[in-house]
Amino acid sequence: MKYELNLREVTSALSTSLDYVGVDDNLHGKRVAYLSFLIGIELGFAENELSDIIFEGILHDCGVSSTSIHEYLVSEMDWEHSQDHCLRGEELLNQVSFYKQYASVIRYHHTHIDRFPESIDAYIKLHSNIIYLTDRVDALRAQGKNLDEILKILKSDKGDFFDTQLVSKFETILSKYEIEEKLQESELEIFLDEWIVKGERKEFSYVEVQEIALMFGYIVDAKSDFTIQHSIGVAHLSKFLAEVMNLDGDSCEKVEIAGFLHDLGKLKVHDKILNKPAPLNSIEREIMNNHSKDSSTILSKIRGFEEIALLSELHHETLDGKGYPNSRSAIEIPLLARVIAVADIFQALVQNRPYRQGLSKEKALNIIEDMCKEGKLDSIVVKTLRKNLDVAYIKALQQRKLKI
Ligand SMILES: [Fe+2]
Ligand SMILES: [Fe+2]
Ligand SMILES: [Fe+2]
Repeated sequence: MKYELNLREVTSALSTSLDYVGVDDNLHGKRVAYLSFLIGIELGFAENELSDIIFEGILHDCGVSSTSIHEYLVSEMDWEHSQDHCLRGEELLNQVSFYKQYASVIRYHHTHIDRFPESIDAYIKLHSNIIYLTDRVDALRAQGKNLDEILKILKSDKGDFFDTQLVSKFETILSKYEIEEKLQESELEIFLDEWIVKGERKEFSYVEVQEIALMFGYIVDAKSDFTIQHSIGVAHLSKFLAEVMNLDGDSCEKVEIAGFLHDLGKLKVHDKILNKPAPLNSIEREIMNNHSKDSSTILSKIRGFEEIALLSELHHETLDGKGYPNSRSAIEIPLLARVIAVADIFQALVQNRPYRQGLSKEKALNIIEDMCKEGKLDSIVVKTLRKNLDVAYIKALQQRKLKI
């Protein structure tokens, strides 16, 4: 299947899930992109290079999934393990043909200007250091410092952290623009919308879409030990079930992509709720139950992903009309959404969790068959699972390991 997509739109939308990791302090990536863009203008960047620095800004924290690491990111100037998320980000981006070119910049976006290895070329050094500077500006803002105070801190750096010409470019943009206003959500939206409109819509192959979806699947799965490999397993199992049900090739590919992305909204759920080893209270449950809606809110911003968005929204709906978020009735739930619903539950039951071993495939199937008898799950999908239980189990736990 071919998808008609605008890479800028896809990246901006999916990166909203990265910004969700901040929970209370979202839009960090977009603010970094905007400030970096303004510095790029001062440096005389051409159109292409300006676009690259925007991609780098919105993707720079793709190696961070957990709320607790994000808290470090916004509170410390430098800390012991700051390189971990840079290495992970590099690894993720290297797997995606469209993002490979940004991997090295993200690798060095917490490297002091005086500590770059000699082999790194000037372009990467410059872009990494721009992202580092604007990232720290936003971190200092999050601590309640105003822009003048931040400028003072940057100026006290004697070229250890940042290239001194970048500090002076930052001073210039502070004198030229009302930066605080420009960093408000509505202004950032206008800025990114203008950038997206200028991007071309072009054909993406299934493999190209799969690479991006897989990358964001990894990001969701890395959020917690409770979600590790979940999206990947759901995608593999959904595709397998669709194939043995003899669905057409496009549907099999689509259900896999939706599987990778279905839980994007979980990045907005605080680690403390996601990792709670006890039943959730009603407020926590409500927050948790928003995740499928949040996934679809992100995905529906991507023209060409309408069906993927719908599938993610429906993955916790049940055929008896008692699911969430919208208590949809059976007639409103298409077959592919029913496939993902079964794959989602099966994967969650058989995977190991910090507080329990994964269930055996037979036990997991029993639970699913009981839910089917209650009228919650599709009987044809559940029968397909029963018939192909051994392979389904392998698919649900099939890992694709990142090197890191
Ligand atoms: Fe950051
Ligand atoms: Fe979910
Ligand atoms: Fe899920």
